[in-house]
Amino acid sequence: MERNVITIRGLTKKYGNLVAVNNVDLEIRAGEVFSILGPNGAGKTTTVEILECIRKATSGEIEILGHDLMTGSKEIRRQIGVLPQEFNAFDLLTVRENIKFFAGMYDRRADVDELISLVDLEDKRDVCFKNLSGGLKQRVGIAISMVNDPRIVFLDEPTTGLDPGARREVWEVIRGLRAKGRTIILTTHYMEEAEVLSDRLAIMNNGKFIALGSPSEVIEDHGGGQICTILGGGLAAMHSLKDMGAELKDNDVMIQIRDKDDLVRIVTSLDHNDISYDEIILRRPSLEDVFLKLTGHTIEGGELID
Ligand SMILES: Nc1ncnc2c1ncn2[C@@H]1O[C@H](COP(=O)(O)OP(=O)(O)O)[C@@H](O)[C@H]1O
Ligand SMILES: [Mg+2]
Repeated sequence: MERNVITIRGLTKKYGNLVAVNNVDLEIRAGEVFSILGPNGAGKTTTVEILECIRKATSGEIEILGHDLMTGSKEIRRQIGVLPQEFNAFDLLTVRENIKFFAGMYDRRADVDELISLVDLEDKRDVCFKNLSGGLKQRVGIAISMVNDPRIVFLDEPTTGLDPGARREVWEVIRGLRAKGRTIILTTHYMEEAEVLSDRLAIMNNGKFIALGSPSEVIEDHGGGQICTILGGGLAAMHSLKDMGAELKDNDVMIQIRDKDDLVRIVTSLDHNDISYDEIILRRPSLEDVFLKLTGHTIEGGELID
């Protein structure tokens, strides 16, 4: 049986009339990477900052590592690590000096040089923070989030604004934390990141979780079957398959497959009506397809466009 390290019941956060988090329930299991995926303004930071004991909930019950958040926040803070959204360290201190400074704030602390190797910054240890690239800065931030040897680590959009190479290096660091048995709560608006890193994820929109599970469960529950694409089918193919819900995109026709006979119907109809096309492709919906379907947000290159 997996043990829950966080249990949330009926969490709500209002800012005046705005309901940023709306009656959310959630359980987070020991040792998992759990991602909260959602567009800007969904309520991700509000949710994690309440768990980090930084913001106060309007209502709801939260238990973290066996402590009630209302009465046990001091003990909870000792056992969690935080990389805030848009993190910054001291510009004029080196990598090592920064990590050492933050480690000094806790009585329980990890070894500074071990942390530097954990984030793979051995050759940058004496470089000033301000001279590091965005990806390296984020890795310093992850090391700082680990200075008190926490059991749970919160990473709020750790890869936003990084180029794909730097993003992948941060993923490797996150995988390393997981391998060390830490529970990681990650917020992101990158689909691929959530899909490849998470054991489980929640899609958040307008303060609510609208999907929850492993990436493949979410795709299975909300993706609605395989997607058949008839490349180069054009208007003719679209019309002949209209009753199956065919949609035209550029010159290609897309149909969601509902049962296994659908594919036979498609091929038969194209053949019967003598419709020419280039190729038929069958693919499983991606997390991106699911996200688009659930939130109505459009995405380019795996990144959300608001
Ligand atoms: N301190 C605050 N005061 C008022 N409104 C806020 C505050 N923080 C966030 N909000 C609003 O709450 C909603 C959720 O914000 P946030 O939790 O930052 O979302 P996300 O991290 O998913 O982008 C947004 O509409 C945002 O404008
Ligand atoms: Mg945020």
